[in-house]
Amino acid sequence: MPGREILRIDNLSVAFKTGEGLRAAVNGVSLSLTSGEILGLVGESGSGKTILSLAAMGLLPRNAVVTSGRVDFAGANLLTARPDVLRKLRGK
Ligand SMILES: Nc1ncnc2c1ncn2[C@@H]1O[C@H](COP(=O)(O)OP(=O)(O)OP(=O)(O)O)[C@@H](O)[C@H]1O
Ligand SMILES: [Mg+2]
Repeated sequence: MPGREILRIDNLSVAFKTGEGLRAAVNGVSLSLTSGEILGLVGESGSGKTILSLAAMGLLPRNAVVTSGRVDFAGANLLTARPDVLRKLRGK
């Protein structure tokens, strides 16, 4: 029996503010994970694996901007969730 969907990322784009304007780091990534499923991210250095993962946990650096998309975890929109909600989801 397939597991329940727990994480859904739709069309997520992240850019960095730089002296020369916004620089894209993640471009339109979508993925879905069911409870208990493991997903490996593979790509060359600088392709955006870490920034995608940090965005999915609401831990982006201050100079990062989410320019499109959404991240839903267990029914909560992580990109707009309050800090106390995020802390609870991340656990210890
Ligand atoms: N704090 C930051 N400020 C500006 N640009 C950043 C910052 N962190 C990452 N970047 C840029 O975002 C892009 C994606 O970087 P990221 O660290 O996600 O790559 P990665 O796939 O995890 O690479 P690696 O395999 O080396 O860990 C790169 O162009 C990187 O230079
Ligand atoms: Mg990395």
